[in-house]
Amino acid sequence: NHMLAWQRTGFHFQPEKNWMNDPNGPLYYKGWYHLFYQYNPDSAFWGNITWGHSVSRDLVNWLDLPLAMVRDRWYDTNGVWTGSATVLPDGQIVMLYTGATNESVQVQNLAVPADLSDPLLLDWVKSESNPVLLPPPGIGAKDFRDPTTAWFDPSDSTWRFVIGSKDDKHSGIALVYRTKDFLSYELVPGVLHAVENVGMWECIDFFPVSTVESSSTEGLDTSVPPGDNVRHVIKESSDDERHDYYAIGTYVPAANAWTPDDAENDLGIGLRYDWGKFYASKTFFDGEKRRRVLWGWIGETDSERTDIAKGWASLMGVPRTVLFDMKTGSNLLTWPVEEVDSLRKGCKDFSGFTIGTGSTFQLQITRATQLDIEAEFKINSESLEAAVEADVGYNCSTSGGAANRGRLGPFGLLVLANEDLSEQTATYFYISRGADGSLRTNFCQDESRHALLTEHIMSSLADDIVKRVVGYTVPVLDGEMLSLRILVDHSIVESFAQGGRASATSRVYPTEAIYNDARVFLFNNATGTSVTAKTLKIWEMKSAHSSPYPLHQSLH
Ligand code: FRU
Repeated sequence: NHMLAWQRTGFHFQPEKNWMNDPNGPLYYKGWYHLFYQYNPDSAFWGNITWGHSVSRDLVNWLDLPLAMVRDRWYDTNGVWTGSATVLPDGQIVMLYTGATNESVQVQNLAVPADLSDPLLLDWVKSESNPVLLPPPGIGAKDFRDPTTAWFDPSDSTWRFVIGSKDDKHSGIALVYRTKDFLSYELVPGVLHAVENVGMWECIDFFPVSTVESSSTEGLDTSVPPGDNVRHVIKESSDDERHDYYAIGTYVPAANAWTPDDAENDLGIGLRYDWGKFYASKTFFDGEKRRRVLWGWIGETDSERTDIAKGWASLMGVPRTVLFDMKTGSNLLTWPVEEVDSLRKGCKDFSGFTIGTGSTFQLQITRATQLDIEAEFKINSESLEAAVEADVGYNCSTSGGAANRGRLGPFGLLVLANEDLSEQTATYFYISRGADGSLRTNFCQDESRHALLTEHIMSSLADDIVKRVVGYTVPVLDGEMLSLRILVDHSIVESFAQGGRASATSRVYPTEAIYNDARVFLFNNATGTSVTAKTLKIWEMKSAHSSPYPLHQSLH
């Protein structure tokens, strides 16, 4: 099916066809990165959920494997839902996943590889003891899902993990279970954490981060205990809002309690991994490169009918390394894994270019459909002195987007743009003043200027599309320039500000900015300042490889 072929990506993970949602059980084993994912093998919409399975040597090029698990037991006949892997010290791999039973009850099940000597982990065996865990008293049968990776607690020699839920007052809650053998489980009294009025917590993730300089570039194994230099992060996927929120805090295992460092930035009300389209994410510890890697599901923002017409739906965002931001001490940094850089070719360097107020400048790149862009901006010093004139109270989502002009913004880049700019995605900064007079930097992505495919060829579907400006404020410390990295890949724009303190992912569906007609521009719509791109480098990105399994006979 070649319909809308230009929407398929060149270097993002996506199955050849049909529907995908959450990343599941990511792990590194015997030289291969494994990615399992929620997959409908029959259609381009959610349903019949099985576990798709692909492996990679480098998190960039993929080999697609047969389905790892299908709906073949009473306890998962309505779906082999989301789960996580735990690699035990003796080399065993434990997969805990949620099954939707024949009565649509959410239960937890255990599966293990049939053959640990197979680096591809092709075959999975579901335990005879399944289901191993049922919803506890007081918890709804449909509010009990998505077990995390387990960590080892030396105080009682148990493995513990979290399952997300909600209570009868619509609070999100994180339940902790402990087990010695992954067959019998005990609910640890209390809840690890709860937040009122935010609804069901799907796909919880819970992991330690290092806060010390010497190991700042290292991720931590999930079992690293809390300590002076270790903080714990909880992430939940808010079913009400469909966003991934995280918070950094203190874990006290003996009390089965985690508290956020900043109560005003608690889960569901504070920080997000990404201000755009990004959901049901999960991290894993990569022992080979000693890093924590984050996978996020990037759904479509067009209609289900369009997805069915094109025969596929969903991408994974590029995998990101996750680190504690030691400079701010209050947020994580998420950044494309270094392997993504291996796809860069032919750097074009526009560094040093100054752009005046109210202007737009085309950067000479042909076929600007697969790009990696790095930019660092400086606004001129007179305008900083004039910062008292900055507009008060800017907000990306309620602003008029990139076309609206203010004193110190917006300025940035227009990608997946056509020649006359009627189509474009704008990634920009906008400096404003808070009510207290302090300056703040807004990092926004305006998706609203993409004429949508459906308007052209399926006009009845035009209003199915979500159009918006996404983004939020991002911390900028004294002396720092404003920095952006933008990954462009046909129908996705993934942007990172200030080295990954904030990110924004958009799905966009150009109809004209495709193939050789896609352009990239620098723009400055501020009325009060010119802007210099101290750094502006643009690489075209090669396509990653994705091969079906088994490989051609000739290879044998
Ligand atoms: C999140 C989610 C999970 C569930 C799975 C089902 O997107 O709803 O809570 O396990 O997807 O596909």
